[in-house]
Amino acid sequence: MTDTQKLKAVLADQPCKKAFVRSFGCQLNVSDGEKIKGLLQSVGYTFTDSESDADLIILNTCAVRENAEDRVFGIIGSMKHLKDSNPDLIIGISGCMTAQSHAAEKIKKSYPQVGFVLGTSALDSLPSLILECMEGARFASDTAEHTEICEGFEQVRESTFKASVPIMFGCNNFCTYCIVPYVRGKERSRRPEDIIREVEGLVQNGYKEIMLLGQNVNSYGNDLGGETSFPQLLRRINDIDGDFIIRFMSSHPKDATPELIDVILECDKVAKHLHLPVQSGSDDVLERMNRRYTIEKYLETVNLLRSRDPDFSLTTDLIVGFPNETDEDFKATLRLIERVKFDNIYSFIYSKRTGTKAALIDDKIPDEVKSVRMRKLLEVQRGITSEHYKRFLGKRMRVLAEEPCKKREGYITGKSSEFIICEFPGDSSMIGQFVEIEVTKTMNWAVEGRII
Ligand code: SAM
Ligand code: SF4
Ligand code: F3S
Repeated sequence: MTDTQKLKAVLADQPCKKAFVRSFGCQLNVSDGEKIKGLLQSVGYTFTDSESDADLIILNTCAVRENAEDRVFGIIGSMKHLKDSNPDLIIGISGCMTAQSHAAEKIKKSYPQVGFVLGTSALDSLPSLILECMEGARFASDTAEHTEICEGFEQVRESTFKASVPIMFGCNNFCTYCIVPYVRGKERSRRPEDIIREVEGLVQNGYKEIMLLGQNVNSYGNDLGGETSFPQLLRRINDIDGDFIIRFMSSHPKDATPELIDVILECDKVAKHLHLPVQSGSDDVLERMNRRYTIEKYLETVNLLRSRDPDFSLTTDLIVGFPNETDEDFKATLRLIERVKFDNIYSFIYSKRTGTKAALIDDKIPDEVKSVRMRKLLEVQRGITSEHYKRFLGKRMRVLAEEPCKKREGYITGKSSEFIICEFPGDSSMIGQFVEIEVTKTMNWAVEGRII
């Protein structure tokens, strides 16, 4: 009997047990959370939205920035009273924090309410860890790096029409600021047949948006002996029958090839949007970040895209305040965003991560300077976004309706192929469907339209 079967048998003899699972961090982590829920459901757990109602709590954590970690430590601390009032409650911590030995040690030593930690590549050990806790273990853990990819997880997906499909795990790039390669291990690509089978199943079940995920999706397949590259995978997914849109993230600029651009522009189901994290507009900072491209090379990619589609939509990630970033470096970032005209940026103040190379740099830039730069960056981008969105005025957009607008009664919000938030009059029967709109107004966070 496997531990999964044992746990199922144990739970079958008890009143229905409820689990609370909360994921922090990127979409890959959210996808892991969906697998964790799938596993729990398959052994007999049901789910609750309230921690105080749960027999099992799993916090699926992120380690990318310090504030993400601090938040989780705060939440774990606040759960002590739940364990005190219900000694049978099992609290488990999964996700990227558990892969950092100092964080795993701190959890074990300082938070006795936690029963187990589960590493990012050890999801299939979850039933064994729960069983150990049920059998009275003070602390169970599996944080070893498992290099083989487990297929066939059932998933409890958060949406009935948008699905994330990880195509690869890990990262080989070792950008000097980033903890991800240390907590997610080496790049491992899923077999193309497994990905195609999963997407076919999702499309047959009515999913309209397929988001292909990886820390660096465009190096997909490098570990498969060159059998299928990312552009080839995209073409194969595009050939699957059905009405759906394909998105993917993130792409590394060093691997954004002309072939990838051809595929994006030629494949009708592939979204007309590219998220291409640049991180900084300064070559010196990019070199110190170990990003392995220059701004000239980045702009070549942008220019190639825009020469073929002048309105093509781009978004990016930027880090403000990388150690010893000068005023000149920061101005170069401002010049870059003015030049590229991103539709949106996701910007972060640099956060020192123990174990990374950048953490060893003696940083002379005060926090206040970094905050001022961040505010300036956001202000400049706000102006760019509201100006740049005007190119959509009067144009048609195909939008996947997602949810009622929170602030406007009688309006629905969704995303266009270009990854632009669109608000339009409608009702909840449209949710999960594609609608055609004509853009009638632009704002600095969204566009408004009327249904055609
Ligand atoms: N693999 C993706 C790439 O290279 O673009 C990014 C993945 S990372 C989870 C998402 C973003 O977090 C990065 O693009 C970067 O801007 C930001 N990030 C990563 N490490 C950071 C750090 N130490 N401090 C601040 N932001 C960080
Ligand atoms: Fe982190 Fe760089 Fe890998 Fe992205 S490519 S996950 S930023 S190391
Ligand atoms: Fe965070 Fe791990 Fe994702 S560190 S951003 S949850 S890969």
